[in-house]
Amino acid sequence: MKIAAIENPRSRQEELGQFLTATPVADFMASMFGPLPKTVRLLDAGAGAGSLTAAFVSRCCEKLDGVRAIEATLYELDGEILDALSETMRECEHRCADAGIRFTFTIHSADFIQEMSARLAGDLFGTHPPAFDAAIANPPYRKISTDSAERRALRYVGVETSNLYTGFIALIQRLLVPGGQLVGITPRSFCNGPYFRPFREDFLSQLELRRLHVFESRQAAFRDDSVLQENIIFHAVKGRNQPDELIISSSSGEHGDEITETIFPFAEIVHPHDAEKFIHIPSTASHATAKETMDGLSSSLATLGVTVSTGRVVDFRLKDALRKDPERGTVPLLYPCHFNGGTVHWPKLDARKPNAILDNDETRPWLVPSGVYLLTKRFTSKEERRRLVACLFDPEQVKAKWIGFENHLNYFHARGHGLERTLAVGLYAFLNSTVVDQYFRRFSGHTQVNATDLRTLNYPDRDTLQAMGREMKTLDLSQDEIDQLVAKHLHARR
Ligand SMILES: C[S@@+](CC[C@H](N)C(=O)[O-])C[C@H]1O[C@@H](n2cnc3c(N)ncnc32)[C@H](O)[C@@H]1O
Repeated sequence: MKIAAIENPRSRQEELGQFLTATPVADFMASMFGPLPKTVRLLDAGAGAGSLTAAFVSRCCEKLDGVRAIEATLYELDGEILDALSETMRECEHRCADAGIRFTFTIHSADFIQEMSARLAGDLFGTHPPAFDAAIANPPYRKISTDSAERRALRYVGVETSNLYTGFIALIQRLLVPGGQLVGITPRSFCNGPYFRPFREDFLSQLELRRLHVFESRQAAFRDDSVLQENIIFHAVKGRNQPDELIISSSSGEHGDEITETIFPFAEIVHPHDAEKFIHIPSTASHATAKETMDGLSSSLATLGVTVSTGRVVDFRLKDALRKDPERGTVPLLYPCHFNGGTVHWPKLDARKPNAILDNDETRPWLVPSGVYLLTKRFTSKEERRRLVACLFDPEQVKAKWIGFENHLNYFHARGHGLERTLAVGLYAFLNSTVVDQYFRRFSGHTQVNATDLRTLNYPDRDTLQAMGREMKTLDLSQDEIDQLVAKHLHARR
């Protein structure tokens, strides 16, 4: 849909926080909405020339997913832009008429903050605050000082915030019906700015975050390329139960560019016990690079002659054979608690888990012969830095003929026996690298690492892994050192 051009002097634009959304970005925002009711009461606060409502209308007309009527309410303070806005709304009417959707609109040439704060506070006698099923917003942004009229109005409805944009979002949130959806593009500053803490609390207690989108280029989102703001688009739903997972996506913001998507556990984005309620947005650009690197690898575990299995000792089934401490007739039993940096610390006499298992006819089928094995944890806590945590079982350190690997571990082996050492050490470096971890997070939103997941990964070829293994003189390397070593060898193979 064509959006009329407007020319406001720069100073006036800044005063109004007037930066208009480019059509591709507006369309992308509109595409983020989930299923909508038959009749959508839509709010566009700070509507400018109406590009967001136009994009929303296009979405409904193109998708034809059951929306029969759109009732748009638009707020715009700038008198200079109202003609352009009305023109866009008339275009929306035509577009909807062609698609068989009823479209009505009301333009309020008023201050959204003042009017809505008063209506929410019940000051405007006889006027209930309106209710909306959907809101699409690119609110104005400008600092508002403590004694400004906006600040006072917002405080009146319990919103304490220092920027116009967070004031807009806080009010919009209050006007949504339960299940109502908001797609907004705003600066990223609210995600971690210390002054935005009350806003974050308000936002996260009333809105469920479903998706966040970031732009790699700071200029991309707006028609006016002199705006240097780091922007974020979010899709949120009015409700009090944050999802287990959410989508984080990114793009350069150029027309038609590729969008990278990754699913993250919500607890990684907002840490459960963080009093500041910071919204951590991982860099999806490096996740995309990780995918490229992994896609370029040609070997599989099968071609390496390596198998990964889940630890065979299911402790509650072999309860009678478990021993807290090693004793005559027992062999080592390893749990994730025995992971100690890159190697195994065994026995761990203060651990709550048993350290040993009887070696007898009943238990032998669940044991493996001693050798070099690579172990990974099946479950990592949400706070753990990496999802994949690998450690090396070295028979030189834990001397025994047989070993039990408990079911919370995965172990890499060669047909039931230990691995060749340099290969095992190379795998250790590879699996503990950031590249693999980031790749892994792309397809696995949860914190569990199953043997099947490890089986489906691409691996470097044997020579490369062994070269990595030979270069690792110690397992005690920092994350940076591991990453550098892995990158060097993966690069060398190209
Ligand atoms: C960032 S622009 C976005 C415009 C449009 N939604 C878009 O995406 O292209 C914000 C708009 O809000 C308007 N605005 C600023 N303060 C306002 C207020 N208190 N009430 C209503 N509109 C306001 C500005 O004039 C401007 O047009």
